[in-house]
Amino acid sequence: MHSVQGEDGEALTRRDLLRRGAGGAAALALSGGALGAAASAVAAPARARYALGFTSMTAETRVPALPVDGTIPSWLSGSLLRNGPALFEVGEEAFNHWFDGLAMLHAFSITRGRVGYANRFLRSSAYDAWKQKGKILYSEFGTDPCRSVFSGVSSVPISAPIPNANVSLEAWANGFRAHTEVPIPVRFDPATLATLGVVPGSTGQMGTAHPHGDLVTRERFSYEVSLAPPKTGVRVLVEKAGKVRELAFLASAEPGYMHSFALTPRYVVLFQQPFIVNPGSFVTGPPRPIVEHFRWAGRTQPANVVVIDRHRGGVVRTIELDPFFVFHHVNAYERGGTIVMDVSGHIDSRIIDALYLKNLRRADQRLPAVKLRRLTIDVARGKVQVEQLAAASIELPRVNYGRVNQHAYRYAYGIGQRGPASGFVDQLVKIDVTRGSARLWREAGAYPGEPVFVASPSATREDDGVVLSVVLDARRRTSYLLVLDGRTFEERARATVPHHIPFGFHGIFTKR
Ligand SMILES: [Fe+2]
Repeated sequence: MHSVQGEDGEALTRRDLLRRGAGGAAALALSGGALGAAASAVAAPARARYALGFTSMTAETRVPALPVDGTIPSWLSGSLLRNGPALFEVGEEAFNHWFDGLAMLHAFSITRGRVGYANRFLRSSAYDAWKQKGKILYSEFGTDPCRSVFSGVSSVPISAPIPNANVSLEAWANGFRAHTEVPIPVRFDPATLATLGVVPGSTGQMGTAHPHGDLVTRERFSYEVSLAPPKTGVRVLVEKAGKVRELAFLASAEPGYMHSFALTPRYVVLFQQPFIVNPGSFVTGPPRPIVEHFRWAGRTQPANVVVIDRHRGGVVRTIELDPFFVFHHVNAYERGGTIVMDVSGHIDSRIIDALYLKNLRRADQRLPAVKLRRLTIDVARGKVQVEQLAAASIELPRVNYGRVNQHAYRYAYGIGQRGPASGFVDQLVKIDVTRGSARLWREAGAYPGEPVFVASPSATREDDGVVLSVVLDARRRTSYLLVLDGRTFEERARATVPHHIPFGFHGIFTKR
């Protein structure tokens, strides 16, 4: 190990869905692949070393004390809660895409230098279908159960009453929620990881897994995408004290896919990329997974930056720019009359194809490059400048959110690749966005997940704290919680789990 300073339940019927879709209330279960791509049937020439991270883990375990190497700071007290897919096969069927597997919640509980671990599947409708029927019954991001359940001609997604919320976690209004890209959060208990039910009230079919919470104003910002004709488009929402208000509705005949957005003191900013869907294709098109209804139109269509007044509502400015593809916003803030908005930018939507499990498990897999891009938005003049901030690749970006979200900042943390031959993510990165320099953590056979920054209670600098990441040790076939020093990016400790943890997406740290 070393640190390097470098550049680098109840199924709705088809008729129900058609009816509800026409009425604007159908919910898409969005999370992943077509049937029949079981791990055993992957036509890869060789299996990647890290493929263990895309292998199901079905045991629900609770380990009171993990073996710890190194010293965990005594001030670090609380739980790292994480979310991600953990089951990729259901009976004789298999999910196709990384985004599809059944959600499992994980908790690393840290107190006085000791670490406990527990996990539990989210009790989603898809989980119930697995346990009770041994089948995939609901549409996921890249998996379409219609192919086996029906022989009809339409592919209206089969929505789940309780979504397979396997993407991210949120602490809001004294409760904890799991999200996927359906705007129906699933509540859970952070102590027991028990599923508590859904948060009702959505009107769209897709949403964001990354709502923003303003800790000062106590406002929560999100969006929902309506794919139910005739009023299709994006609805931007703010919630305060339990009341939800629409800030803007961006009508669009072919809405684009979005995963996250940016928040500044005055604005909500959307990056609308030309990865678009004709909502009618869900009704008239042949059965296919949700994501396959979308198409990259970047050769003929621009991307749009849409600036929305977060206080008065309404669109302030829409600005076209050359297209690229974004899952994750890093941070945003205002500087005079401009908005500075940083994102993890992909060239186009090819990353979605790369994340099909049949591709990810191949030894010759190559992930498309992803770089930290800064959009400097001149709101008055309607201009956007785009620049690359660092050579190092970065995805699943995080910042010291409590301190720098909506403010000028210096450090972004993320996962990345040493180079194109890495195949998958094999290093953690800390980018100094003011200089473009990067500190890296990597180790042979180690494949780290999203780094979560936790500030020290005595912090004076932005990076005073630790960075937590769950790492797959492909050589030992186990996973461990890695604790890095926030400043130096050097290892302070690791706590090893007795089994592997499939690669997940996002997590949060909650103090005790
Ligand atoms: Fe995400």
